[in-house]
Amino acid sequence: MSPARVAPGRNPLRDPRDKRLPRIAGPSSLVLFGVTGDLARSKLLPAVYDLANRGLLPPGFGLVGFARRQWADQDFAEVVHDAVRENARTPFSESVWQQLCEGLRFVPGELDDDESYERLARTVAELDAERGTGGNHAFYLSVPPRYFAEVTRRLAASGLSTPVRGQWRRVVVEKPFGHDLASARELNEVVESVFPPDAVFRIDHYLGKETVQNLLALRFANQLFEPVWNAHYVDHVQITMAEDIGIGGRAGYYDGIGAARDVIQNHLLQLLALTAMEEPVSFDAQDLRAEKEKVLSAVRLPPDLSRGTARGRYAAGWQGGEQVRGYLEEDGVPDGSTTETYAALTLTVDTRRWAGVPFYLRTGKRLGRRVTEIAVVFKRAPHLPFEHTATEELGENALVIRVQPDEGVTIRFGSKVPGTAMEVRDVTMDFGYGHSFTESSPEAYERLLLDVLLGEPPLFPRHREVELSWQILDPVIRHWERRGEPEDYPAGSWGPASADRMMARDGRAWRRP
Ligand code: BG6
Repeated sequence: MSPARVAPGRNPLRDPRDKRLPRIAGPSSLVLFGVTGDLARSKLLPAVYDLANRGLLPPGFGLVGFARRQWADQDFAEVVHDAVRENARTPFSESVWQQLCEGLRFVPGELDDDESYERLARTVAELDAERGTGGNHAFYLSVPPRYFAEVTRRLAASGLSTPVRGQWRRVVVEKPFGHDLASARELNEVVESVFPPDAVFRIDHYLGKETVQNLLALRFANQLFEPVWNAHYVDHVQITMAEDIGIGGRAGYYDGIGAARDVIQNHLLQLLALTAMEEPVSFDAQDLRAEKEKVLSAVRLPPDLSRGTARGRYAAGWQGGEQVRGYLEEDGVPDGSTTETYAALTLTVDTRRWAGVPFYLRTGKRLGRRVTEIAVVFKRAPHLPFEHTATEELGENALVIRVQPDEGVTIRFGSKVPGTAMEVRDVTMDFGYGHSFTESSPEAYERLLLDVLLGEPPLFPRHREVELSWQILDPVIRHWERRGEPEDYPAGSWGPASADRMMARDGRAWRRP
């Protein structure tokens, strides 16, 4: 690349933006569609408050709720208040709340009704006049995906999506972004026909997690790991996102979607991309996304999908000392459902760096415990100059990025057992966020909402990434659909037996975190 094409600001010595300065959003508002939903109550509204509490929102910030309720602003304020009291991360402050409260507005409306959007446009204009939000508005679509196209079209028709000079309008979409490649393409076309690509923010909340961003620091700020981060040293990689909860009251969303579309298509393939990618030229959105896309385009499925994938569905069982229902008995799950609640895949990344290294991905509900981790498992030393009996309890070296809940990094290696004989056994060395830092990690949604208001896109997948991920998953889902029912596993276990067999065929075993 010629020097003239290098974006200004890439050279830290000449960088006019000091990254240590707090990043504070400018005059703006957030319009939340689907404000009565679970996500709004548990994550989005508390995150807005936490940002306000940390002084990262402008004083005149506006928050507009849009839903099919005949609420006045005051009713909405009570809903936000309860959500904040229940779920905010930072302590409640009456003065912060009062200031936020002054910018709260509610627009009763239907997603497919023109008049509702006219009311919304009036409210947004009033906010500009009363609160100085400057014509800068982000529209957050926390609604079922079947409404994405409808809402974006109506935002366009009502003029809400069009900024005048010097202002911005952005749209934030929650997953699932489509249910296969074809539908994702259609959605992308509709959304990007209204909002330019750099105004579309697709949420994958895993990218907002501190521990996921730490993967970039771990890999690219250190000299220790990168030399062994390749097929010469790595035996395989296991990426796990295990949940102990069931689907709760989410049958309406979950049934027909299932574990692979809900978690693998987005969160786990993003983790794989960050784990396997080359060093980006910079952490600017374009450079980072380009490297992730290269990985996703190089991902290959196993030749025999029956042997290289597994899926399951939780049956009744015991969890945390409690008897729990099976998936088919959950409220709202239709008879004859074939939706999987567990999915495991074997993937390879067809590049020189990763040739022949399997990446095993698994996710499931009602598993033994809640844990998300990336485990890079290394090959055994080519030669062990010990008696055979001395290394019987020595496993493979591993580097484990503990995404949650116990955030940190573990290295597993062999160490001499104290005593007069030479015996080597696995030990671990741990870094825990709680021990090394006094600050607690912000919630993923705090980071992501702030980035939307700042217009910073690196942590949001672009449409090509979404499409590449569907391209990987589509053949697997079609294969499973042809095979009918998933295999049952008892709630509280570690998934179906076929997932263990999948690993055993490769001479490996899942970690039991
Ligand atoms: C969501 C999925 O994206 O992630 C849910 O739709 C899942 O099914 C959730 O429970 C898990 O998120 P976290 O941050 O608790 O791991």
